[in-house]
Amino acid sequence: MDRIKIIGGAPLEGTIPISGAKNAALPLMIASLLTDETLTLQNVPRLADVSLLFDILANHGVDTSFQGKRTGQDKLAGQTVDLCARAIVDTRAPYELVSRMRASFWVIGPLLARMGEAEVSLPGGCAIGTRPVDFFIDGLKALGAEIEIERGYVIARAKKGLIGNRVAFPRPSVGATHTILMAATLAHGETVIENAACEPEIADLADCLTAMGARIEGAGTSTIVVEGVPRLTGARHAVLPDRIEAGTFALATAMAGGDVTLEGASAAHLTRPIELMEQAGAEISVTNRGIRVRRNGHGIEAVDAETAPYPGFPTDLQAQFMALMTSGKGTSHITETIFENRFMHVQELARLGAKISLNGQMATIEGVRSLKGAPVMATDLRASVSLVIAGLAAEGETEVSRIYHLDRGFEHLEQKLSRCGAQITRISG
Ligand code: UD1
Repeated sequence: MDRIKIIGGAPLEGTIPISGAKNAALPLMIASLLTDETLTLQNVPRLADVSLLFDILANHGVDTSFQGKRTGQDKLAGQTVDLCARAIVDTRAPYELVSRMRASFWVIGPLLARMGEAEVSLPGGCAIGTRPVDFFIDGLKALGAEIEIERGYVIARAKKGLIGNRVAFPRPSVGATHTILMAATLAHGETVIENAACEPEIADLADCLTAMGARIEGAGTSTIVVEGVPRLTGARHAVLPDRIEAGTFALATAMAGGDVTLEGASAAHLTRPIELMEQAGAEISVTNRGIRVRRNGHGIEAVDAETAPYPGFPTDLQAQFMALMTSGKGTSHITETIFENRFMHVQELARLGAKISLNGQMATIEGVRSLKGAPVMATDLRASVSLVIAGLAAEGETEVSRIYHLDRGFEHLEQKLSRCGAQITRISG
C-alpha cells in the first residue's frame, strides 16, 4: 500500500492550480443518466471516486470517453469527458459497487425519473458516522414513488412517472437535495424543495441541468422550484473549482508559512473559512488569478470554529482546521455539528504531539510550540489530508499510511505541494 513521506519545516511558495470539485463532478456525472444524448463535462478531476463512479455508471449503460490533452494545457489540468446514456440497460446498482462510495446511491433519482424503476443498494462510503437515507426515501415517496427496502436494497417504482410535489427536508442534506433535484427535472408538474442544501455544488448541478433543458429556480438557496419537462438533452458544462481543495491548501500554507496563490479558487465559496484563517493570522487576498494566502513570521492565533451547512464552516475542512489549531497560541474549540463521528484524526494528530481532548461533539485543542514527525495512519478522506498538513509543519519525518483515502479526493496532492517547495514524496508498495 502506498504511503506519503513528508520532511516538515519547509514554507510553501508558489502557485497551486485548483482542480474541479469532486463533490460537483460526482452529481454532474450522475446527471448523464437523465438523457439519451451526450453530456460533456470539462475540468473533471482524476480521482479514485470519479473512476469508481465511471464503473458504476457503465454498469447502467453509460458510455464514457475521455478527450485528449490540448496544446499548452497544464499537466495538472482536469480531463474532459463525454458521457452518453443512450440506453439504460440495468436499473440495479449492486452492493459491491455502491458500498464503496456513498454518493453512488444518488443514481436512484435519475434512474427512477427516466426509467420508472430503480433498485439501489444502501450506501457505504467514509466511516464518519451513520449516514442514513431517510430524506431520500421520503422525498422520492413525496414525488409518487413506491418504495420498499429488501435485503439491503432500496427498490423504487414509479411506473407512470414521478409527480411534482412539495419536498421539505428536516435539515439540509447535500445528497438528498442533488437526488430530488435530478428526479424532479423529469417529473410531471412542479416540485418545491424546501430546506434544500445551499452548497455551490448544488447550484453547479442546477446550471448543468438547466443547460440540458431543465427548468429550475432558486438553486443555491434553501428553496428550489423545479418545473418538470418531458425530456432532457445533451450539454457541455465545466465542473466548478474545488472549494475544499482550495481551503485545504490555504490551511496548509497558514500552517507551514509562506506565500501561495491558489489558481482558479473562488473566494466567494470560502467566506467563512477565510474569515477564520484571517483571525488565525493568515493574510488572504483575492487576485485576478484566484486566492493568495500568506503567513510570514508571526504565530498562529487560537480561533474557535463550528461546522455548519453552507455558507457556514464546512465539515470537510474541520480536520484540516484542527491541524492548524494544534500550533495555535493558546486554546481553541472546534465543534462538529454535521457528522457525529468525525474526529478520527484526533488520535493520529496526537501521535505528532498535538494536545486535543474530546467532549462529545467538541474538541478542545491546546496549541503546542511544535509538532514532531511520526508514523500516522489515514482514517478517512479529509482526516488524512489533515495529517499531511500537520506533517508539513512538524519537525522531522512524518509518514502517512493508508493514503488510498487521500486518492479518493485530492488530485496530484504531492505534485502540487512539492512544486511549492514541500518535501513530500509517495512511497509505493
Ligand atoms: C456531502 C458531501 C460530503 C460533506 C457533506 C456535508 C459529496 C459527495 N459529499 O455528503 O463531502 O461532508 O455533504 O457537507 O458531496 N442525513 C440524514 N438523512 C438523510 C441524509 C442525510 O439524516 O437521508 C444527515 C447526515 O447523516 C448528516 C447530514 O444529514 O448528518 C448532512 O449530510 P449530507 O449533506 O446528506 O451529506 P452527504 O450528501 O452524504
